[in-house]
Amino acid sequence: MGAMALILGLESSCDETAAALVTSDRRILAHKLAGQEAAHRPYGGVVPEIAARAHVEALIPLTEAALAEAGVTLDQIDAVAATAGPGLIGGVMVALATGKPLIAVNHLEGHALSPRLADPDLDFPYLLLLVSGGHCQLLEVRGPGDYRRLATTIDDAAGEAFDKSAKLLGLGFPGGPAVEAAALRGDPTKVPLPRPLLGSPEPHFSFAGLKSAVLRARDAGTWSAEDIAASFQQAVIDCLIDRTKRAIGSARGVNALVVAGGVAANTAIRTALQALAAQHDLRFVAPPLWLCTDNAAMIAWAGAERLAAGMTDPLDVPAHARWPLDPSAEKARGAGVKA
Ligand code: KG4
Ligand code: ZN
Repeated sequence: MGAMALILGLESSCDETAAALVTSDRRILAHKLAGQEAAHRPYGGVVPEIAARAHVEALIPLTEAALAEAGVTLDQIDAVAATAGPGLIGGVMVALATGKPLIAVNHLEGHALSPRLADPDLDFPYLLLLVSGGHCQLLEVRGPGDYRRLATTIDDAAGEAFDKSAKLLGLGFPGGPAVEAAALRGDPTKVPLPRPLLGSPEPHFSFAGLKSAVLRARDAGTWSAEDIAASFQQAVIDCLIDRTKRAIGSARGVNALVVAGGVAANTAIRTALQALAAQHDLRFVAPPLWLCTDNAAMIAWAGAERLAAGMTDPLDVPAHARWPLDPSAEKARGAGVKA
């Protein structure tokens, strides 16, 4: 990496608006976040129209607050990294208005590289389990813009399964933390639930059947919400571990097992992955919890990595509603396939 660079990161792709200032030598000078949970809670999920308006209202005040906290002015910034997809792209508009060099960041790349912001010793290539509200993938991370996708979900994402199950069990929104809290008070062995694709020769994930089983378990009226939550979480863990174990066997030259994305905030999941890594003599790296869920520091950092690799973008950068990290990955089977 050349001279030290100061990057403003803007995130506005889903239901968090965020601005952060990060240096290329891994100093996080400021990170500001405005959640929209209250606005979306009545709907039990993110409503894109509500999110888009809230982002526009929040982006500039958050940017100003981040600059003030860091004690820097816009003049001192080398580039603005903004999430340009998948999802909403309000941050790109604000980035363009600054007149600074633009780095268009794939939200998933923000998650994928975030562990390197927290851990200077994490080198490429590493095996990444990317588990968020919209995605569940196993990737060989070889460098900025260089990914090999080993597996994806053929239906729901892991976080989506948490959110939908929480809704079914009346545990509230966002579902992940609510299910994790309820699971602490439940028995993970009580409720028989399926483990879709466990042991399957194909590499992918599936969670839709598990969610349906949660609905049936609830309607049976036999078990408490806490026992269903605990059993559900255990089923997710079993699936994640089985699929990750399979990927360890097919990944090339990786030195670490890394987890990122909102679901990586789950302590039971982190603990299980840590044990798996130890069994395979791999380092285990998980970013701090705040860096796992959506934030702008990870976008700024992905920007710093891309800038160091000479990857800035023209000012007319197109937005991407769908934007896979590995464009060469074959479609996984099934209809509702996600990138
Ligand atoms: O990465 P993220 O903040 O946003 C997306 O890009 O999707 O991930 C949000 C997802 C949600 O589905 C949320 O329920 C889940 O991460 N999540 C959790 C936990 N905290 C957040 N899932 C399980 N356990 C948690 N503690
Ligand atoms: Zn995310």
